[in-house]
Amino acid sequence: MKPPFPGADKEIISIRVMNLMREMVFVLDADKKITFINPAAAETLGYDENVLIGKNMGVFTPGTNDIENLLEQTGLEGSANETEAVLISKYGDMIQVLLTVEAAGGSLGASSAYIIIALDISEHKALERELRMGFDELSALNDILIISRRELERTNAKLVELDKLKNNFISMISHELRTPLTAIKGFLRFLSEGVAGPLNQEQQEFAGLINRNSERLLRLISDLLDMSKIESGTFSINMGKADLTAVINSSIADISSIASAKGIKLEKNYTDKERPAMIDSYRLSQVIINLMNNSLKFSPDKSKITLGIEESGFYRIKYPPYVNTAGLNTCSYYVITIKDGGSGIPEGMHEKIFDRFFQVTQSSTSKPHGIGLGLPITREIINKHGGRIWAESVSGEKGASFVFMIPAE
Ligand SMILES: Nc1ncnc2c1ncn2[C@@H]1O[C@H](COP(=O)(O)OP(=O)(O)OP(=O)(O)O)[C@@H](O)[C@H]1O
Ligand SMILES: [Mg+2]
Repeated sequence: MKPPFPGADKEIISIRVMNLMREMVFVLDADKKITFINPAAAETLGYDENVLIGKNMGVFTPGTNDIENLLEQTGLEGSANETEAVLISKYGDMIQVLLTVEAAGGSLGASSAYIIIALDISEHKALERELRMGFDELSALNDILIISRRELERTNAKLVELDKLKNNFISMISHELRTPLTAIKGFLRFLSEGVAGPLNQEQQEFAGLINRNSERLLRLISDLLDMSKIESGTFSINMGKADLTAVINSSIADISSIASAKGIKLEKNYTDKERPAMIDSYRLSQVIINLMNNSLKFSPDKSKITLGIEESGFYRIKYPPYVNTAGLNTCSYYVITIKDGGSGIPEGMHEKIFDRFFQVTQSSTSKPHGIGLGLPITREIINKHGGRIWAESVSGEKGASFVFMIPAE
């Protein structure tokens, strides 16, 4: 092999290389006494180089024979495996090192039997400890997460069970309440009609009061029952061919006495022509009555409620952005609008009012009756018809405007 530095003195080159090395280098004689130590070793261990010449490696490993044993293992020929060890500096600092020992086998002369190279791995070790601690913390966190997830799953299962129980309870109690209430209303009618003898005016008034409150109670019970069916996914409608105009007209007639009691004018903005549609007449009448009841409830005396029916192609209907029309039939639709002159829907609440039990906060003195189930039930009925419902604000105009669409035949 060609010498790497032709003409150069090998020993000088070796010493200069060792002086430049960042690893600690120790050269020992056959008696294991130090004959050379490089500047990196002297500096790291805090000794003057000259002080260490003639000492053995035990200076750096007080109380143990680790390095001595390693040298024994190495023998005078060969090399030992890399070993981790701890060297103690003059100031008592512990330096973790990776040691490589090589027996020179007399090739360096009698004064140089062993070469020991020590790589300072203290930082590496500290990092390893930190990583291990981090890992331990992470696995502890992971254990906590697994436990929390199990608890959440148990709670969730319990909640689903409770929700089912609640729905069953509401459904059962509503049925139980409806039967005696229907009987009360029936006998009340007998009384009012004088079947049990004529009533004087005051008695007639009281009977009327009982009747109105029974009606309200009955509606409340029906709404609770509908809502529990919606929540349990068992709410269904019975579609049949019918005339939408007739259904809307008869719903208006049902409610006209409440309107006239408040002096509210009901204005029909449509012609009475037949409008055939596949609908559940009973449920659609419930929709009109719910919306009209709201308009009447939130409107001042002597105001006006306008109803409109139009027919429009799917793509010409303008929906607010929150209305999801995905999956709707792109056929022709009847678009029904109910517009009142009441308090209106505050900005940002047009979507929320369709949530169950949601009511726009009213001053406690003027809180109107109801529990906030009318609109969510109404929306479900419209959705089941393959339609959509939303509330609109007419800028610059007072009052609320509700619009719904259902497929025209
Ligand atoms: N025409 C309207 N004008 C003003 N606010 C309305 C109108 N319709 C609905 N709202 C608001 O939306 C809320 C929810 O209406 P929804 O019909 O669901 O419940 P409710 O009328 O309060 O009670 P329920 O219908 O169960 O008797 C109402 O409480 C009211 O705040
Ligand atoms: Mg209502």
